[in-house]
Amino acid sequence: MAGLQHSLALKKDLDQRARERFTSSMRAWVLTDLAGQMHSDYEKASVESGQGHTSGEAVHQFLKGRDLFKWYSSLRCATQELVWQSVLTAIAADPESVERINSPSEASHGGSLTLDATVQLPAYSEAMDVHLMPGNYQGSGDAEAGVVYDNGLEVFSFGVMGKNLDDIGHSMANYTRLKWPELKPQLIVDVGCTIGHNTLPWKQTFPDAEVQGVDIAPACLQYGHARAEAFGVPIHFRQAGCDALPYGDESADIVFSSMFLHELPTHLIKAFFKEAHRILKPGGVLINMELPPNDALGAYDAFYLDWDCFYNNEPFYKEFRDLSYVGLCTDAGFSASDFFQATMPRFTYVSEAEFAAASGADAAFDSDTGRLSDTITWYAFGAQKGGVA
Ligand SMILES: C[S@@+](CC[C@H](N)C(=O)[O-])C[C@H]1O[C@@H](n2cnc3c(N)ncnc32)[C@H](O)[C@@H]1O
Repeated sequence: MAGLQHSLALKKDLDQRARERFTSSMRAWVLTDLAGQMHSDYEKASVESGQGHTSGEAVHQFLKGRDLFKWYSSLRCATQELVWQSVLTAIAADPESVERINSPSEASHGGSLTLDATVQLPAYSEAMDVHLMPGNYQGSGDAEAGVVYDNGLEVFSFGVMGKNLDDIGHSMANYTRLKWPELKPQLIVDVGCTIGHNTLPWKQTFPDAEVQGVDIAPACLQYGHARAEAFGVPIHFRQAGCDALPYGDESADIVFSSMFLHELPTHLIKAFFKEAHRILKPGGVLINMELPPNDALGAYDAFYLDWDCFYNNEPFYKEFRDLSYVGLCTDAGFSASDFFQATMPRFTYVSEAEFAAASGADAAFDSDTGRLSDTITWYAFGAQKGGVA
């Protein structure tokens, strides 16, 4: 872990770095070694019991009484809490960190921030701290929630999400560039952008396009704006709900989301897809980076990826992954023949040729797809709006 590479990064002493390294290493061990042991234990025990499980729920029920499952779950919860605690400790030791965001010293690089006081936070976002993040995405009302998210994500992801936590954005933007070479986007919208870490790569990949990041949480947008300016990348951040996107019909070329849908109740996912279809130009593309659907995975993998729904304050996770992803697109107006799904390696960790070969093939699901690990494979799905002009 090299630490965040921008001027808003928290100032950290050696004790703080050691605290973060411990937390990251512990998480990596739980999510790789201990997870591997839990899987082996399951394979052996389920054969011995003579039970074959056909769903993630059945695997979950079977494992609940087993020691390795309890160790895994307990340590994942503990390390998740440690992630946020370590960041709060760092913020307390650097009290000017939030002030640096509120009064940036950087000259403007052309981005903007548009907040809208009439936008109401949905009840679910005020009712819980999603993935145990203290204060959720809105925090105490200032930009601190963004500081918590950026610094927390760095500890959480133990180095597998790219130098600037932006590998998902680079992977999805380059997948889009390679799959639709005829697309010359003028407007790209990242919905549920949080602090914009996966928004910047769209501007870096398509420099002629205007890139906008939309989210409901003003604290994250405020931080995201300061962060984008610190990187010198002009992004326009706007506060809005995904069910009322502030764009005219057929005005956008690409609508993108990343790790977003699983945090929404189903009715809002459906509303977002309708909005995406409405604002896309004919030939425009909706691309969502997400966890793969349960119908593409075996019972054990379904259990493994749904774990967060039960133990990590992610109440919509399983319901989302149980949905038909094609159905989401067709219900919103896309045609089934324009649906796509893909798996791909991390763009910033491989050569472009390797990325193009792997992402150009049919989606291939393996035990690394969607798992946070050194060998992670990203999954994306969406659709191109028919009627190319
Ligand atoms: C897991 S984060 C998304 C992460 C980010 N896109 C990434 O690439 O890592 C979910 C985001 O969705 C936002 N959000 C939740 N409900 C929303 C809604 N109804 N409309 C727009 N944004 C929403 C939250 O504020 C939060 O920033």
